[in-house]
Amino acid sequence: MTNRLTEVLSKKDLNKDDIIFLLGLNLQNQEILFKKAYEIKDKYVGRKTYFRGLIELSNICNKDCLYCGIRHSNKDTKRYNLTDDEVLRAVKYALDKRWSSIVIQAGELTNSTFTNRITSLIKKIKSFSSNPPGITLSLGEQSEEIFQEWFDAGAHRYLLRIESSTKSLYEQIHPKNELHSFENRLENLNRLQKLDYQTGTGVMIGLPSQTLEHLADDLIFMRDFDIDMCGMGPYIEHKDTPLYQYKNLLIPIEDRFRLSLKMIAILRIMMKDINIASSTALQTIHTHGRELALMAGANVIMPNITPVKYHENYALYKGKPTISEETDEYVQDLERHIHAAGDTVGYGVWGDPVHYFTRKAK
Ligand code: 5AD
Repeated sequence: MTNRLTEVLSKKDLNKDDIIFLLGLNLQNQEILFKKAYEIKDKYVGRKTYFRGLIELSNICNKDCLYCGIRHSNKDTKRYNLTDDEVLRAVKYALDKRWSSIVIQAGELTNSTFTNRITSLIKKIKSFSSNPPGITLSLGEQSEEIFQEWFDAGAHRYLLRIESSTKSLYEQIHPKNELHSFENRLENLNRLQKLDYQTGTGVMIGLPSQTLEHLADDLIFMRDFDIDMCGMGPYIEHKDTPLYQYKNLLIPIEDRFRLSLKMIAILRIMMKDINIASSTALQTIHTHGRELALMAGANVIMPNITPVKYHENYALYKGKPTISEETDEYVQDLERHIHAAGDTVGYGVWGDPVHYFTRKAK
């Protein structure tokens, strides 16, 4: 091990130079970083992986993010909306498996038909079982009133990625208008934290013209914001999006994968007791990519339990898996790989981020 690596890994706080150094580690030294991150995970949150059943409620979206396959202007995507029954069936599946938490994700809408429906759906899910699941929402930017209404209905976690914490890069990957403003995104994250949600954010890794310095700033942003949860993963180009024209500027997909694992490991070292999700995008690159991330410090996996016939229409990026993750065979295989990574599955508990409670106790 190099002297610098030993020194950096033994520091109490990492500065920006340290983070850039760690992001640049070669194949051999990155293993040392992952080992350190796994030790920290073991010590602070335990060698447990929590499942959240991911329900992709709808791909109808008002936004036009330049990287995303379900952006409003992509007329090649067939739009869908699950029925309440389909949602409840998926919830039942998760509960039967004792996963105990679900994530509801959808394209971004703010009209009252949509927001009222979410409120009623949260209530239905909460009253559906005597042992209701923890509910995470991933439904984009909303007013304070709506965030509050959903919280009161029973949702207690929210994921809203900052995508990039560097304003200029954020603006390169979003249209330049009020609907896609960087300041609004920040404001929304603040709102969520203020309303007492367990607040999660994240970024895409390997965007065109993104540097290690940008990524280091992203990690520092997460630390400064004091997030409870993070979900981040590689950017994967989608041919029906404007950002696709820059595909020649991208680093190889394998490098985006490795960089994502390093981001996870460094974040684990910086924020020891948060929950870190192993993103679906990692699985797109390697069948067992999500399990590799567990060994680098992640502790949450979100198996997709959306009815399989809708999967092809929720293609945020190229090659997003369209397999069913709700067959017994699949789940057993996933569990085998989780065990091989050194973890066990946290069944029957919500698996809230420890950090939320230590942050509140401060
Ligand atoms: N590659 C990787 N991640 C993507 N997302 C959207 N499009 C892509 C893409 N092309 C991610 C965004 C968003 C989340 C729901 O999916 O980070 O916040």
